[in-house]
Amino acid sequence: MNLNLRTTQVDLAERSYPVLSGPGALSASMDRVATLCPNGRLICVTDETVATLHLETLTGVCEEAGIHLHPLIVPPGESQKSFARLEALCGDLLALEVERGEAIAAFGGGVVGDLTGFASAIVKRGTGFIQIPTTLLAQVDSSVGGKTAINMPAGKNLIGAFHQPALVIADIAFLQTLPARQMRAGYAEIVKYAALGDATFFNWLESNGAAALAGDEGKLTEVISQAIAGKAGIVARDERESGERALLNLGHSFGHALESQAGFEDALLHGEAVAAGMDIAFAYAVHLGLCPQEDHALLRRHLRVSGLPSCLSEAPGGPYTASAMIHSLNNDKKNRNGNLRLVLPRGLGTTFVYVEADVQSLENFLNVQLGAG
Ligand code: GLY
Repeated sequence: MNLNLRTTQVDLAERSYPVLSGPGALSASMDRVATLCPNGRLICVTDETVATLHLETLTGVCEEAGIHLHPLIVPPGESQKSFARLEALCGDLLALEVERGEAIAAFGGGVVGDLTGFASAIVKRGTGFIQIPTTLLAQVDSSVGGKTAINMPAGKNLIGAFHQPALVIADIAFLQTLPARQMRAGYAEIVKYAALGDATFFNWLESNGAAALAGDEGKLTEVISQAIAGKAGIVARDERESGERALLNLGHSFGHALESQAGFEDALLHGEAVAAGMDIAFAYAVHLGLCPQEDHALLRRHLRVSGLPSCLSEAPGGPYTASAMIHSLNNDKKNRNGNLRLVLPRGLGTTFVYVEADVQSLENFLNVQLGAG
């Protein structure tokens, strides 16, 4: 028996699904995968990097389960979340005569998951969908919850659909080949779950996060399954982000504002942007008198010891300007009635949506944080 294998249910009535995480999750999922492949084949979208490292493994495990794997391989990188790539992928799926009743698998990181999920949402008005995330960030965040999207020149993830997978398989074996920088970036999303709603988990991370990042199997499985459970609960309560789910964007509005200047590729990884963005959110909440300084100090210390950017001036990929950040914040999907909506903390583990009435004072604050004020 595999004591480290975890199953978390995302409760969405008839669209509920399990997330299997930990070591051995892939082989333990094959019975479920088989039920989602009624014609005995699994069309699997992956990228060149993941294909080189892991496609043989996935093909072998599928073959043992009597499933024929049909890979569709796309180039790596955020630039693939485009209309052109989506059109080509939909064309490939139609050429394979994909049926609504069969599942398409996304095998890779967040880019492959978002692109494949969106194609699955729209081809023949929707097919089945399986997420097999291979990065820490995708395992704890983007593979769970059904957000799928491509990017537009105006911003990230602006065209997409909510399309829940039928199954998520987060096997930590795939993380063994992940570069340390990518592991740390994924860890930022784990810290986010703790910072936004679970102070006890934050305390646990302070003691155990380093071991998880260093690859301790038990600790890594624990942080991943805790993060997945945190997200699954929020998604079950607010699938379409009409309320609580917005809190999952802690650090993201400021983070996207940095990413849009850095170019959404390797100069600044998404998780690094989220780490710096969380620090800005805490710093701003302290500045507004909403959050104790000590909580910000604890967050900053943990980001720093985890090798993540722990303040705006440490974020790689700059230089950044406050005016460009404000421009990006003005285009944020969360804004309502022309007002910026920022996820801010009242303390570690307690967050809320703050409606920003004074954009000029936010810009002045960002200028100070950037060392330009
Ligand atoms: N990544 C944030 C969400 O899924 O809502």
